Amino acid sequence: MNMTRASFVSQVDADHRTAGMVGAALTAGGITLATPQEAPDDPCVLLADDVSAACAAVRTLSRRGWRRVLALFVDPPGPTPADAWLLLAAGAADVLAWEPDRAGDVVAKLRRWVQVDELVDSPDVTARLVGRSPVWRATLRRVVEVARFTAAPLLLTGESGTGKELVARLVHELDPRPAKGDLVVVDCTTVVPTLSGSEFFGHERGAFTGAVSARDGAFALANRGTLFLDEVGELPVELQSELLRVVQEGTYKRVGSNTWHPTSFRLICATNRNLAEEQSAGRFRRDLYYRIAAATIRLPPLRERPGDMLPLFEYFLAELRPQQGVPGLDPVVRELLLARGYPGNVRDLRQLAQRVSNRHVGTGPVTAGDIPEEDRPTADTVTGWGADDFDEPIRRGLNSGRGLRELREAAADAAVRVAIEEAGGNLRQAAARLGVTDRALQMRRAGWREEPTLAAVDG
Ligand SMILES: Nc1ncnc2c1ncn2[C@@H]1O[C@H](COP(=O)(O)OP(=O)(O)OP(=O)(O)O)[C@@H](O)[C@H]1O
Ligand SMILES: [Mg+2]
Repeated sequence: MNMTRASFVSQVDADHRTAGMVGAALTAGGITLATPQEAPDDPCVLLADDVSAACAAVRTLSRRGWRRVLALFVDPPGPTPADAWLLLAAGAADVLAWEPDRAGDVVAKLRRWVQVDELVDSPDVTARLVGRSPVWRATLRRVVEVARFTAAPLLLTGESGTGKELVARLVHELDPRPAKGDLVVVDCTTVVPTLSGSEFFGHERGAFTGAVSARDGAFALANRGTLFLDEVGELPVELQSELLRVVQEGTYKRVGSNTWHPTSFRLICATNRNLAEEQSAGRFRRDLYYRIAAATIRLPPLRERPGDMLPLFEYFLAELRPQQGVPGLDPVVRELLLARGYPGNVRDLRQLAQRVSNRHVGTGPVTAGDIPEEDRPTADTVTGWGADDFDEPIRRGLNSGRGLRELREAAADAAVRVAIEEAGGNLRQAAARLGVTDRALQMRRAGWREEPTLAAVDG
């Protein structure tokens, strides 16, 4: 078994009876303990006895959820439910009260987290899906965990162009079933109820006019594999009950036949409708909804992960011009790409890359002139990056006695934090985007409270 590394931070007194025991139990369970600095991407165990101190440490350690922090409370009775929610809101991945017989669970959890992250960072995933923003990483973690460690039906929601189909294909790829069958895609907008769902069930020869020969349907083709129902919100109500039956019973009959056939597949559904609402409004069967939504993952729109815009654009350019490699982007182009809206999400960005690559020549960077006329900013699209949103926090700051100096520092700190986060922790890239030197960025970070350091760990 490969080694699992985790960082270990203790906020409790060094002579606390339990503190040493926890470290020893984790080591005995095969976890290599390190400092948060040594293991910036590995999970972290935080030994805590005070909720507000733990929340503060979680905020620093978790880096907006990039690093998973397990808050472990050493003194009984452990955190109250309210404390646990506070810690989760601060960015903790989980909160537990320590008991010696829980060591196995803690070790299992850390191992699982590391396995999931290894997959998220593996070429299987990174070659298919581009994105290093914390929001996207959190999404991929959930996708990978459902795909590899469960057989649960999965419902993917998200606006058009957010990557639902790509993610469905990834789930099928990562599915570890032995002798796995195929991925079968059915677009529910094209399923015709008058053919009694023959797309799903298949049909016998002569079952209806035009059925000149017998045919397998999606339920047969997906056997031992994956059935991907795209736009499942469009499925006609008549067929919803039929689908429910097959999912529950695992058997189906071809149209025009009386023989039952067994089938077994993983079901993945996608929709850009709000199915929970459709279900309350009576347009989608409630029982089917609960059946297909055992695991639901929402894919974030591109505007919620601006840090991925430039990497995605460069990826598409490189894909479109495989001979020339990735061209650089002039600052004016970067700025446009970040400021622009993408109603069609990643698909929009990809189409823009296509239009730009049609115009770009040579190996130099993409320049303003490579942006097609219709994609250039007009006066009202260049403005407004939301600086007005500052008013409220500034008002509160002023009212609580902060002067210009403090307000400016707070804004700069927020900018640095966001830039580092968007660059997935890459300081050089963050500094470049902020237009400051690496050193200036490091100095500012050093001024922040030091990350908690490794606690004494001896058995
Ligand atoms: N993270 C990503 N990395 C690389 N390409 C992506 C990513 N997300 C989406 N794409 C690309 O964007 C396009 C749209 O993706 P996809 O078809 O999976 O979206 P969708 O959510 O199914 O959209 P719709 O709701 O319109 O069917 C595809 O060309 C896909 O390859
Ligand atoms: Mg789609």
